[in-house]
Amino acid sequence: MTLRVAIIGAGPSGMYAADALFKLGISVEVDAFDRLPTPYGLLRGGVAPDHQKMKSVAKYYDRVASHPNFSFFGNVKIGRDLSVEELRSYYDACIFTCGAETDKKLGITGEDLPGSFAATEFVGWYNGHPDFQNRVFDLSQERVAIIGQGNVAIDVTRILAKTPQELASSDISAAAMDLLLKSKVKDIYLIGRRGPIQAAFTKMEIEELGHLEDCDVVVQPKDLENCDPGDNHKAQKNLEVLRALSVKPREGKSKCIHVYFYRSPLEIQGDASVKNIVLGINRLENSNAVLTDEREDLNVGLVFRSVGYYGVPIPGVIFDEKKGVIPNVIGRVEPGLYVSGWIKRGPSGVLGSNKPDSTETVQSLLSDIPILTHCKNRSTDSLIKLLKSRHVTVVTFSDWQRLDAEEQRRGQEAGKPREKFTSITDMLSFLHGEN
Ligand SMILES: Cc1cc2nc3c(=O)[nH]c(=O)nc-3n(C[C@H](O)[C@H](O)[C@H](O)COP(=O)(O)OP(=O)(O)OC[C@H]3O[C@@H](n4cnc5c(N)ncnc54)[C@H](O)[C@@H]3O)c2cc1C
Ligand SMILES: NC(=O)c1ccc[n+]([C@@H]2O[C@H](COP(=O)([O-])OP(=O)(O)OC[C@H]3O[C@@H](n4cnc5c(N)ncnc54)[C@H](OP(=O)(O)O)[C@@H]3O)[C@@H](O)[C@H]2O)c1
Repeated sequence: MTLRVAIIGAGPSGMYAADALFKLGISVEVDAFDRLPTPYGLLRGGVAPDHQKMKSVAKYYDRVASHPNFSFFGNVKIGRDLSVEELRSYYDACIFTCGAETDKKLGITGEDLPGSFAATEFVGWYNGHPDFQNRVFDLSQERVAIIGQGNVAIDVTRILAKTPQELASSDISAAAMDLLLKSKVKDIYLIGRRGPIQAAFTKMEIEELGHLEDCDVVVQPKDLENCDPGDNHKAQKNLEVLRALSVKPREGKSKCIHVYFYRSPLEIQGDASVKNIVLGINRLENSNAVLTDEREDLNVGLVFRSVGYYGVPIPGVIFDEKKGVIPNVIGRVEPGLYVSGWIKRGPSGVLGSNKPDSTETVQSLLSDIPILTHCKNRSTDSLIKLLKSRHVTVVTFSDWQRLDAEEQRRGQEAGKPREKFTSITDMLSFLHGEN
């Protein structure tokens, strides 16, 4: 009998799970559901629009999707359009690969003031993600703070710091490009609570900031004193770059990135919108940040909190509120229900990290095959009928290919790799001939 597997979330971990299932050498059908009409998750909606080489990983996922036993069910949200229990009745196994779609909170006063945003929102907005197109970012502000020093914080910093010419070859959304063209941002503060050795960013990403056309980078040499990376290769490489940046004189460029270490945000202040951040100066104790009595005000008009993503619970599946993940053992939640990617291990790791992760989960699924009993209806057609009866417009993989081709065509007209559809309504009306 053919094994029927549903994947919930056609992002990187979902595509790697499908790949691993097809490589098992058994008869298997994979239906991948995504709440968006577009596949590939954060590869499309997270990875920076000016990192087009990275976006080419889509070709690998396209190959997986071309398997004759793979089907894409775009525009179907599990937990809304179909309950988990209903879904499970059509499949032997379900793998949740739904990522970590919201942001971790700082838990400080003023976090929700107008002008204080999660990086998640800004990233989604400039990447054309339909969820974030209604956000309004006031880029008339000259001074901007970014809290956190991971690679997402670096992406946000770089997008704010680049010139329109530097962004021209990206697939940044037209609305974002329009606003960035008018940007008055001058000083960008990249704020980490610990030191250079503990910084979460990686060498290539911090190094890239040093090569921007019209933006200087300032690293305080005193922050690099007494930094011993030991045999930590990542820290060694970061430190090398930071040392080079710290001795590079400012070149009088229009913008400047100020890399701040050892500072924790304690309060975001303002009336109608953000005006100031109170920073606590930290010292390190066993690599942990410990607050001293020293405080510092940083006047900024815009704040991006980039301290990590966080999972969204799905009704009908257990959820660990503290960690923001679905609790599991080697990818198994219970026989017949599995997880992979950011919803399994938390919001860290690059695209490729999800490949071994999904392979591990598929191995757990494989060993459960003899005891999988959830599937009551083996007909995908009857599932499609059910969705139709609920007025859900399913977007197939060939529908996505039409959207993809149209985005590339519009991009060509605009002299960029693609011009994305940024609303689900527009995508559906393009597909169904109402535009
Ligand atoms: C801003 C940013 C930039 C990054 N840049 C890079 C980079 O340059 N290079 C790199 O290697 N890695 C990068 N990463 C990391 C990489 O994107 C992640 O490792 C990877 O996307 C995680 O994959 P995932 O499948 O677990 O989650 P996701 O990519 O988030 O995919 C989850 C999918 O599930 C869908 N979904 C969610 N809920 C439901 C539901 N209820 N029903 C149906 N579908 C649902 C979503 O629409 C989405 O398509 C970046 C991450 C971020 C946040
Ligand atoms: N180009 C790329 O390859 C690329 C681009 C983007 C993202 N990614 C990957 O995607 C993953 C997620 O990236 P991310 O940047 O969201 O997460 P991340 O790498 O975990 O970085 C989170 C940052 O937030 C800080 N932080 C957390 N809680 C904080 C708090 N309460 N107060 C102050 N600072 C706090 C962390 O500092 P501490 O270390 O002190 O906790 C860290 O600097 C990473 O694996 C990343 O490498 C890769």
